Order: sequence, then structure tokens, then C-alpha cells
Amino acid sequence: MTDMIDPFGRAITYLRISVTDRCDFRCVYCMAEDMTFLPKADLLSLEELERLAGAFVDLGVRKLRLTGGEPLVRRGVMALINRLGQRIGQGLDELTLTTNGSQLGRFADELVAAGVKRVNVSIDTLDEEKFRTITRWGRLPQVIDGVMAAKAAGLRVKVNAVALKGVNEDEFDAMLDWCGRHGFDFCLIETMPLGEVDQDRTDQYLPLSTVRQRLAARWTLTPTDYVTGGPARYFDVAETGTRLGFITPLTHNFCEGCNRVRLTCTGTLYMCLGQDDAADLRAVLRGSDDDAVLRQAILDAIARKPKGHDFVIDRAGRAPAVARHMSVTGG
Ligand code: GTP
Ligand code: 5AD
Ligand code: SF4
Repeated sequence: MTDMIDPFGRAITYLRISVTDRCDFRCVYCMAEDMTFLPKADLLSLEELERLAGAFVDLGVRKLRLTGGEPLVRRGVMALINRLGQRIGQGLDELTLTTNGSQLGRFADELVAAGVKRVNVSIDTLDEEKFRTITRWGRLPQVIDGVMAAKAAGLRVKVNAVALKGVNEDEFDAMLDWCGRHGFDFCLIETMPLGEVDQDRTDQYLPLSTVRQRLAARWTLTPTDYVTGGPARYFDVAETGTRLGFITPLTHNFCEGCNRVRLTCTGTLYMCLGQDDAADLRAVLRGSDDDAVLRQAILDAIARKPKGHDFVIDRAGRAPAVARHMSVTGG
């Protein structure tokens, strides 16, 4: 049982930790081309991240997901993953990552050895040229090699793609087919208005209800109650034996069942991806060695978790719903 119950009766059992705001890509919907990253001095050390994560697990978190930026570009991150992995079975059910895949070739075996069983990899297109345009300079073959290394190492893989109108919408069929052939689940995400980026996401917004109807013309999709603790709703795909998921913050709000909070690499705890409510846990961490003080600060923060985000579909001409970039909060 978790000690963390928010004001709306939701049990908090899932912590996402952004271990770095840096990334080796610059996806157009995620970052501006010219990003100013945090100075190293502002970052929590790996030891501090471990202490914080440990406090959350002690309070009842069952699932830890490392994100970024790109989590695998944080120097020394494997040491943290190894340490956190030792908590699996000791309160922690799952330790996992959301990654852009570029470093999986190097790390897949070590991740498995640390106790990681599955990874979510962001791939928005299987077209090399388009991949370079979306990520600004990412190389698709490197990512595919990474994903294949993950598979070979025994990791289960879920491929995440942000659905972008006029950019990758013609590829979902082929991507589902490709994922199916490799035994990967495939998950589409509606683009969310976070942080100033160079492109107008309103123009690129694609409702996934439409996409699902289109895919259902070719694939036999059966709703399933498969749950991972994340926000996706899944369908079994009869032809592939894999799943197709939809993350629909805009067309179908899932906040009612929210079970998660987010920690940034500077120790700020955000209670919601789409709101500014936050707590500075770094100050608490550095102000006291007493774990009871830290635990109380976490509980106080959870007591302020808002009901949900207020992303709206028609944002034309409006500022982003929240000013911070996705790479700060980690998705
Ligand atoms: P699973 O454990 O496989 O279910 O993963 P997950 O969906 O929890 O994590 P993943 O990193 O794959 O999440 C994919 C994306 O879903 C995130 O990057 C966000 O864009 C979106 N997402 C996850 N949680 C929330 C949430 O609480 N609110 C909103 N609006 N979007 C979320
Ligand atoms: N809207 C939706 N998803 C986004 N991601 C990054 N920025 C956005 C956005 N504005 C996705 C990435 C990755 C995950 C961490 O978040 O593609 O799959
Ligand atoms: Fe990097 Fe992921 Fe953001 Fe792309 S979406 S720039 S891979 S953090």
C-alpha cells in the first residue's frame, strides 16, 4: 500500500525521474533548436537521485521510470540504474526507461543485468530522411540498431510515436506492421502544447480517434484491459499478436486514473505534466539528512496534486499550456 494518496483519492505508485534535460536529438515538437541546458551545478548528483528515489519507494512507489532528455546520455547513469535495480522485489515492482534508443546498442546488456525488463523507445518515423528532419540530426539506423540490441538482450520494447499531421500520419500502418513483425507493442501519442518550440503544434495536431478508425480498416483491433500503469489504452492486434496503444491527453482525458508524479534532474517534483504545481525537493534534500523530513516534504507535495491538465485542442495563437519543455519534465 502506498502512503501517497492525493486529494482526489488517487494512489501514487509511479515515479518518473528525468535524469537529465540534455538530449542528443532535438525533436521539433519537444525542443527549440537552440536550447540552453542547465548548468551541471544545478543537477542532483546520482547519489541524491538515488536517495530521493529510495524515499519514494519507501513511501509506496512501485514503478520507477527514468526519462530525460535522453536518460542514457547522463554520465554514470548505469551506476544509478544498478543501484535502483537492487530495490526490485524490495518494494519496487518495475524499473524502466523511456529512451530515444540512440544509446541502446551500448547499454542493452547492462540494463538487463540491472533488472530492467522492458524499455519504451521513441521512434516517430521509419523514414531516414524524415527522422533526420524530426530529430534535427538523429540517425535512424543507430536507433534501429539500438532497438535490435535491446530485443537481442531480452528486453521487451514498446515503440512510442508522437502522431503528427502531415508528417508521419501516412506511416502508422507500416510502423504497426514493422513493430508487429519484431514483437514490439506500438503506441501513438497526441502532441501536447508544452514549452515554446519552433513549430506550430496546432497545425500538426492529429486526433487519435481518427487514426484508430483508419487503422481499424486494415487491422483487427480488440480493446483489451491490459494495463501498465501508464496512460495508454490498448488494443490487441490479431494479425500481429502485439498491442496498439493510444495516449490521448486531448481527445480523451485520462487524469481520473492518474497514479504518477515527476521528478526533474534538479529535484523539482511536478505533480502533473500539464500544470505548474511543484515542490523543490532539492532544497529539502540538501537542507537535512533526516529521511523523515524528506518523506514529509513528499507527502505535503502529493497533498497538492491538481485534478488534471487543461490541454485544449484548439490552441491557435495561444501560448503553450505550460512553459517548460517536455525534456524538463520527461514526458
Ligand atoms: P508504460 O509503463 O509502458 O505504460 O509507459 P508510460 O506510458 O507510462 O510511459 P512513456 O514514457 O512511454 O509515456 C509516453 C508518453 O505518454 C509520455 O511521454 C507523455 O507524453 C505521455 N504521458 C505519460 N503520462 C502522462 C500524464 O500523466 N499526462 C499526460 N498528459 N501525458 C502523459
Ligand atoms: N507532445 C507529446 N509527446 C511528446 N514527447 C515529447 N514532446 C512531446 C509533446 N509535445 C514524447 C516523446 C517521447 C516521450 C518522452 O514524450 O516523443 O516519446
Ligand atoms: Fe530528445 Fe526525446 Fe525530446 Fe526527442 S523527444 S529531443 S529524443 S528528449
